[in-house]
Amino acid sequence: MEWSLYFFEKVSSTNDMARNYPIFSVVVAKEQTNGRGRYGRIWSGMPGNLYMSVVLPDFQEKSPLLAFVVGVAVADALKAFGVRLKWPNDVCLSKKKLSGILLEHLGNRIVAGIGVNVADAPTENILYPTISLKGVLTAEEVCKMILERLSVWLTLFKINGFEPIRSAWLTFAEGLNKEIEVRLPRESIRGRFIAITSLGAIDLELPDMTHRQIMAGDVFLMSKRK
Ligand code: BTN
Repeated sequence: MEWSLYFFEKVSSTNDMARNYPIFSVVVAKEQTNGRGRYGRIWSGMPGNLYMSVVLPDFQEKSPLLAFVVGVAVADALKAFGVRLKWPNDVCLSKKKLSGILLEHLGNRIVAGIGVNVADAPTENILYPTISLKGVLTAEEVCKMILERLSVWLTLFKINGFEPIRSAWLTFAEGLNKEIEVRLPRESIRGRFIAITSLGAIDLELPDMTHRQIMAGDVFLMSKRK
């Protein structure tokens, strides 16, 4: 895949910048002043971290699954660090958040925003503990590694669909077969994390042994009981 890269010193959000670029463009910034995460949360723009947005083609009803393709690509790129994936697409290290992915639909294009705490882990406005790579790589190096793996996983997705992505995602899965909590805006659901469905929903086995499939939410891992 031929990526066209555009570098900026400071932008409000690379996802906003990417709106003006064609498919297979990648917008990278050293700093973000108004970065956003899922559910409109703040994604703090500390310098030295990676802020990148990739413009992807629309895959119609399969487009939401691109978040998993990107998640697998980021996890694959950083697998030497022992990263894991927390549903739907947080990349974690030592059970702390290292990277987040935000997918936005723009007409016939999808913007996949990727933030990686390369140098520093934010401590403000966070829902989940954070961690960084402590600068052992530069943001540019991490960007290149991600794009290389994204080319491979996108091609697989285009040719073979979601199945290979789902299997790869599960090899990186945090909390599989364990008790987890999924927080939704109005309720929290506890259950055993059984699978990811073909639509990307998380399948939970509830205490009464029924199943519930959830399309969007925040997963919290339960600490082990002594
Ligand atoms: C999340 O975990 O909530 C998703 C975070 C996504 C952050 C990235 S940083 C690059 C791109 N630009 C943004 O404003 N957000 C995404």
